Amino acid sequence: MHILVTGGAGYIGSVTAAYFLQAGHRVTVYDNLSYGYRAAIPAGAGFVRGDVGDRSALDVLFQSNDFDAVVHFAAFIEAGESMVNPGKYFRNNVVNTQALLDVMMAHNVRRIVFSSTAAVYASKDTLLEESDPLCPANVYGETKLMIETMLRWYASQLGLRYAALRYFNACGAMLDDNGQAVRGEAHRPETHLIPLTLQVPLGQRASVKIFGTDYPTPDGTCIRDYVHVEDLAQAHVLALEALDERPTMIYNIGNGRGYSVREVINVARQVTGIDFPAEEAPRRAGDAPILVASSERIMRELGWQPRYTALEEIIRSAWVWHSTHPNGYTDLL
Ligand SMILES: NC(=O)c1ccc[n+]([C@@H]2O[C@H](COP(=O)([O-])OP(=O)(O)OC[C@H]3O[C@@H](n4cnc5c(N)ncnc54)[C@H](O)[C@@H]3O)[C@@H](O)[C@H]2O)c1
Repeated sequence: MHILVTGGAGYIGSVTAAYFLQAGHRVTVYDNLSYGYRAAIPAGAGFVRGDVGDRSALDVLFQSNDFDAVVHFAAFIEAGESMVNPGKYFRNNVVNTQALLDVMMAHNVRRIVFSSTAAVYASKDTLLEESDPLCPANVYGETKLMIETMLRWYASQLGLRYAALRYFNACGAMLDDNGQAVRGEAHRPETHLIPLTLQVPLGQRASVKIFGTDYPTPDGTCIRDYVHVEDLAQAHVLALEALDERPTMIYNIGNGRGYSVREVINVARQVTGIDFPAEEAPRRAGDAPILVASSERIMRELGWQPRYTALEEIIRSAWVWHSTHPNGYTDLL
């Protein structure tokens, strides 16, 4: 298939683009590089720089290519920022996705795999299933839920086939056969716990902050499900290839095990061998206490199996990336 990967210069999109190429598909990345990196785009993928909200640029792109499917990563992703600047998120995530869907319909491209998120759920202290109540605690999660709603209606009314993959916390780096890190996390600014934590042993940050120590969890800190980026990428390949048989798919993509903020920091200390400091800070708005996935549905229906289930292994792969690319992709530009 010829696949248009929006946001394919970003963290998860670039790894997934590499996986699509490995699976024998043709890939064109479309990204405005607002947060992505040209150096992250895998060799072998085409690249067009452009904005998902630019309807006429998308029209030209779809006119001049025979896409079979779209895999849509492009979005703004910071839950905290979405609470202080909601318009930025509704515009880029919701309004621009609607432009993309309309251009897809106009050009008769009716397959999409969409990056949804665990942030669509209400917090729960047992494993989250796809049928659980949807109640985003932040604007970012709400934008993703709104897109899922659009997908449902475009499917029922216009014949769109879609997979909405609700990722939990993406993490880790893509390693080659020699164990060298070839792609990894380099968000600007970084807000994710594992890369922020690893900046401390790298000497780039004085300490890591623990936001909230009075949550109703065993050690008082938030619990999250950390899923390795290569396992996420593999889920996209399986979902895309299943779209002809299964017109509508909604799947959690998580590891099935929750780890607290304190546990992540302690494992990072073990992996790096450095006993770096952590600092307790007040809760942040919009942080749910516990979000852990049941990924049983995608395992059963598509045979997905995560390869990286131990937090130590995940953090080790992230450490290989960050310790060899302390400035992310900027050294590769
Ligand atoms: N990282 C996570 O833990 C996580 C968890 C759940 C869901 N997601 C979702 O996965 C997707 C990818 O996340 P990521 O961590 O790789 O983020 P990222 O910021 O690294 O990648 C997003 C990419 O989209 C591009 N982009 C943004 N708006 C665009 C636009 N209007 N037009 C063209 N390109 C645009 C950016 O330049 C960037 O390259 C996002 O949709 C995010 O909401 C991520």
